[in-house]
Amino acid sequence: MEKLTLTRPDDWHLHLRDGTAMAAVLPDTARRFARAIVMPNLKPPVTTVALAAAYRDRILAALPAGMSFSPLMTLYLTDNMPPSEIDAVKTSGFVHAVKLYPAGATTNSDAGVSDLKYCSATLARMEKLGVPLLVHGEVTDPAVDIFDREAVFIDTVLSPLLCDFSALNVVLEHVTTKNGIDFVRDSGANVAATLTAHHLLLNRNAIFAGGIRPHNYCLPVLKRETHRLALVAAAISGNPKFFLGTDSAPHAQSAKETACGCAGCYTAHAGIELYAEAFEAAGALDKLEGFASFFGADFYGLPRNTAQISLRRESIAIPARLDYIDGDRLVPLRAGESVAWRLE
Ligand code: DOR
Ligand code: ZN
Repeated sequence: MEKLTLTRPDDWHLHLRDGTAMAAVLPDTARRFARAIVMPNLKPPVTTVALAAAYRDRILAALPAGMSFSPLMTLYLTDNMPPSEIDAVKTSGFVHAVKLYPAGATTNSDAGVSDLKYCSATLARMEKLGVPLLVHGEVTDPAVDIFDREAVFIDTVLSPLLCDFSALNVVLEHVTTKNGIDFVRDSGANVAATLTAHHLLLNRNAIFAGGIRPHNYCLPVLKRETHRLALVAAAISGNPKFFLGTDSAPHAQSAKETACGCAGCYTAHAGIELYAEAFEAAGALDKLEGFASFFGADFYGLPRNTAQISLRRESIAIPARLDYIDGDRLVPLRAGESVAWRLE
């Protein structure tokens, strides 16, 4: 297939940051995706509907003229978010979910949840009102092997959570293991998962190929090949529980290439093209549209997009660096290499 036309996709997991950083990365997403679920892990985090409204206004103000893009906002769950905030979410019309970051799990998660027992009343309200909980699914205990933290989270946190709140809508974000795929597939229709392009394309060898590769370091960390194959199988299965979420996470080059580098891969510059590569490699380009353009909208109860985009099979060079903030640069995934599809 030389040309691929599909309904305009959405990104169900995106980090846009704020200020000049946001302005630098937003066009990459808006060129490709009609909507995106915008993560709330700013500093300070987006913990109220009022903060989400102001953040949404800043995103829309930074959108270049002529581009159409709708930010779908989320709140950052804390130990003391009151249930009344969920009522405000429900009536807002622009906040679509609440994100659980276990405290200490990843970038700007210090204000996250220390123990879900503190969130029971709020989770009950979310379950009642149908507000989805988006989950960063890793335990934070440093004694747990980093490659096992998702599997342990599923057994010790997610599974009990769904026993207590069996009708809660949950998205296991950026699922990285066969354990996660199996769990989501075997749960009720209220449990879904997003899959990133980098976890579909790379296994953990990519972090150590010929030397340490900080730009392939993200959280949850890349896993071994058996897990990657399970993710690809889920993505191309046509099961509507699995849909696109890039987790594109910009960090300045200086924050990645340092003694203690930040977690996150920047993929928005080729946000749909990289998925096309992964689906083509699996011989399943016909399954891309459901995964990228339909299943997420259906899960969130939002209308499917009607516009279309086209991709042409053509190798496109990816710059070694992109302009970012304060003279610092952003090193995108595949920097200095190429991607096999071009967005028309
Ligand atoms: O790699 C990651 N980067 N994983 C996350 O969970 C957060 C993200 C970020 O915000 O940089
Ligand atoms: Zn993320």
